[in-house]
Amino acid sequence: MCVRWFAFVPCTLYLIFAHMKILMVCLGNICRSPLAEGILQHKAWNAGLRWSIESAGTNGYHTGEPPHKLSQKVAKLNGIDICKQRSRKFAADDFEKFDKIYAMSSDVIDEMKMIARNRFDASKVDLLMNELYPGKNMDVPDPWYGPEPGYHDVYAMIDKACEKIVAKYASTKLAGQ
Ligand code: 4NP
Repeated sequence: MCVRWFAFVPCTLYLIFAHMKILMVCLGNICRSPLAEGILQHKAWNAGLRWSIESAGTNGYHTGEPPHKLSQKVAKLNGIDICKQRSRKFAADDFEKFDKIYAMSSDVIDEMKMIARNRFDASKVDLLMNELYPGKNMDVPDPWYGPEPGYHDVYAMIDKACEKIVAKYASTKLAGQ
């Protein structure tokens, strides 16, 4: 039987994307990136994408803590439970462990560069909001200093960006089947 090489391409694409590993990064890993982890996990799972999604923070001040109570609250109001997440510090070897790393804001990318030094891989990093507004370099604002409405605003921004990510890769996956 003659099986041509291009017969394996869709299959390979499927395997790559089915196991995609994505890291969401903010400063404290208690407000924005836990929401991004929970939202993308939820949407990917519902789209049939068995991705591995984690989050981390560049400052490590809250290592071991659960997400901020207001992030937990807005997630729960939207049907997503993030209470079991625990904050951890972003590390240089995250560049080997993950295929794609989304930063919530440009100051987070600066911090990631300081931590990873020569292991920083620009090809894996982007601002999350660039998925929604390519090239605009918009930040997801830090709700940590403000009251509850800020958490709802941040949820809505992250939710839209994650919807876009899943739509992009879900179509690639379908094309690969
Ligand atoms: P996050 O918000 O980066 O969205 O988790 C922050 C939470 C805590 C601090 C900074 C940002 N902090 O400096 O403690």
